[in-house]
Amino acid sequence: MSALNKTARMMVSNRRGILAADESIGTMSSRLEKVGVEPTAESRRVYRELIVTTPRLSASISGIILADETFRQKLSDGRTFPEYLADLGILAGIKVDTGAKPLAGAPDEKIAEGLDGLRERVAEYARLGATFAKWRAVITIGDKLPSERAVRANVHALARYAGLCQEGGVVPIVEPEVLMDGTHSLAQCQQVTTSVLASLFEELDLMQVQLDGIVLKPNMVVAGAGCPEQPSVTDVARATVDTLRKTVPASVPGIAFLSGGQDPETATMHLAAMQNLDPLPWELTYSFGRALVGPALETWRGDTDKWVAAQQVLSERAVANASAR
Ligand code: 13P
Repeated sequence: MSALNKTARMMVSNRRGILAADESIGTMSSRLEKVGVEPTAESRRVYRELIVTTPRLSASISGIILADETFRQKLSDGRTFPEYLADLGILAGIKVDTGAKPLAGAPDEKIAEGLDGLRERVAEYARLGATFAKWRAVITIGDKLPSERAVRANVHALARYAGLCQEGGVVPIVEPEVLMDGTHSLAQCQQVTTSVLASLFEELDLMQVQLDGIVLKPNMVVAGAGCPEQPSVTDVARATVDTLRKTVPASVPGIAFLSGGQDPETATMHLAAMQNLDPLPWELTYSFGRALVGPALETWRGDTDKWVAAQQVLSERAVANASAR
């Protein structure tokens, strides 16, 4: 078993999942502002300290994805975040894309950037304790969207990122997110997700990415948030698993879903319903951001007196998702 495969399997096995706490400075700042916390490097650090020091987190969380700022910050006890996680038995991951920017020639679509200098950045993060990385590409469904241009550009970048990570001994989380925004149906989401994943695996093959050393992080197949006809939990589970079976080779050790704006309980129900379908060739787990930490942030609101209650809420969500597996 290669070292990459060993790490990838640790990320997705034992009924644990991955916690995404890697919001960019901009995104994290606006989430803090929404709950009345002044966004500073220190308030972002304190909030991330609340997350990682939640009691018994390592029972349900195998890895935590951090942003560059957090990766270099320290907890109150003086340990860096990656050092602290290593001591807990949780793998430290790093988001390495530098954000989705407008794609030239495609006014309503985006391309994730960050390939320049990535080899050197991966080497530095590995020295600082990263064992895995993440790159998120976003695909929009809309009138005549996504364009082939946007899909091809994004899967190409994902595959080059994955190759560079593996060369540096770091497991890439490969995240092609078909967004929930819009009024599209479940069937449209299924069709777009199928074609994005098919293009992605062609490109990963072209770039000679070792499939047993990646973790795929896709969207679940859901209807757009604005679609008047919302599918049942069973429909979502069935459509998602059918799509993955058609497109994801069995050599991929695990699939860890993003939550994408679903409410936390619904995301957990979808995950649970998928485990009840026929035997699957890969581990199916979670790599949620909002569906894990959203309720804790709402509870905390920057109030030290709510610290323990917020950690309790996070713990409940983490346990619920581990049980869903
Ligand atoms: P959500 O679960 O909030 O979609 O976040 C997951 C993630 O890592 C997005 O890149």
